Amino acid sequence: EAALQGYNTCIFAYGQTGSGKSHSMVGTEAEGEGRGLVPRVLKRLFEGGSTGGDMTVDVSMIEIYNERVYDLLDPTVLRNTGGRHKSRSLRVRVHPKTGAYVENLGVLGAASIGEALRLLELGSKARTIHATNMNAASSRAHTVFTVRLSQTKPGGGSGEGREAVRVTSKVNMVDLAGSERTKATGAAGQRLREGASINKSLSALGKCISALAEEASSGKSKAHVPFRESTLTLMLRESLGGNSRTGMLAAISPSARHLEETLSTLRFASRAKRIVCRAEVNVDPTQRLVSELREEMQMLKQALAQSGGGEDGAMAAQVKQSQRIVKDLEGTWEQRHEATLDSLGEAKRNMRLMGLEGAAEATARDLPSVPGSLQDDARGQIPRLVNLNADPMLSGTLAFCILPGETAVGSDPGECGGSRVLISGLGVAGRHALLRGWPGPG
Ligand SMILES: Nc1ncnc2c1ncn2[C@@H]1O[C@H](COP(=O)(O)OP(=O)(O)OP(=O)(O)O)[C@@H](O)[C@H]1O
Ligand SMILES: [Mg+2]
Repeated sequence: EAALQGYNTCIFAYGQTGSGKSHSMVGTEAEGEGRGLVPRVLKRLFEGGSTGGDMTVDVSMIEIYNERVYDLLDPTVLRNTGGRHKSRSLRVRVHPKTGAYVENLGVLGAASIGEALRLLELGSKARTIHATNMNAASSRAHTVFTVRLSQTKPGGGSGEGREAVRVTSKVNMVDLAGSERTKATGAAGQRLREGASINKSLSALGKCISALAEEASSGKSKAHVPFRESTLTLMLRESLGGNSRTGMLAAISPSARHLEETLSTLRFASRAKRIVCRAEVNVDPTQRLVSELREEMQMLKQALAQSGGGEDGAMAAQVKQSQRIVKDLEGTWEQRHEATLDSLGEAKRNMRLMGLEGAAEATARDLPSVPGSLQDDARGQIPRLVNLNADPMLSGTLAFCILPGETAVGSDPGECGGSRVLISGLGVAGRHALLRGWPGPG
């Protein structure tokens, strides 16, 4: 509701592994009772915006793993790889005017709840493939799903001064890594160091929350808040201690065995509760920001010309950075929506190349009409290979269909030939196995 009014909002889920963070944020299905907060929020935003008519929605989705940022909506992530293709990480940069941002991050326009949910699904698939490629425990990664809203509202003044204004807001939904062993509370030397090296971002989050809570209760703003200590806190700076309405979801285990972790999560939550954020409606700063940045670039360019351009690489870099931000800000929603369609299309093609069943209906339509193939698969009788993962939220997100005939399974597209399932991972051979399917029910 606050986001629809024009406030930045944020909700982050905190708790030990297996306590239900992803269950609460993403859920087990895209629609129906089992869906999590992210699809519910998306639904509400699209419903709320339909009255005004001119609201635009953009989404992005990133994963922070080992302090590196990966774009989960980048369709090339779904391109397999055979373990050779490394997922590209993106750089987080800080600009004095706009704050921290991720360079070259895909921000995609979503025209409907359907499109937004398909992007979310694409992101979950990318997460799974990532986790496998990097042989990583997914529960050590943070996922940030961001929605940007822009809409026109009647202006604040009365009578003739009432001019319509553009209002923008940002919704950050964060599924954090499992918090066990971080122990920000006890600050017990060895344990804390261990926690810090396992997950720098989580321990930095703990420190920031403590510092902000301290600041709020002492009423002084002297405390040093170490936002810059980690990628996560750098990116959530505004959400944690600035212009945002922020909520925390504390996930705890019902088991007595986890008492210690549960207490630590609750202590964390009660500290977080003391923080006071000052949220205000964001009258669209784009116009002003663009002109300010333009002015700044002009000045820098002049200074650069005067200094002969020689030694000042830093200045030239800043000009470049500002140019890029201006370009991003000036892009229209229509362009970003086109990017979405391109991205979903490419993701679909890539998934098909891997032998992956895509966003169900879309892929089924494109497959050749073979008796017993996906078109006829109303009752889900086509056999599938489905992934298993230590993280239950990632299990079953990838389904490879076994169609009649021979299907080669392996990591090398060349060796596997036409009908294939491409997987990567430790010990997977170029052509690893051959599956034979017969037409017919079951
Ligand atoms: N309230 C709940 N009702 C039913 N099942 C739940 C509930 N909470 C969690 N689960 C189930 O428990 C399992 C673990 O939950 P989940 O994956 O959400 O944990 P997590 O906190 O995200 O852990 P990690 O830190 O490892 O990512 C899942 O299979 C999930 O479906
Ligand atoms: Mg999880």
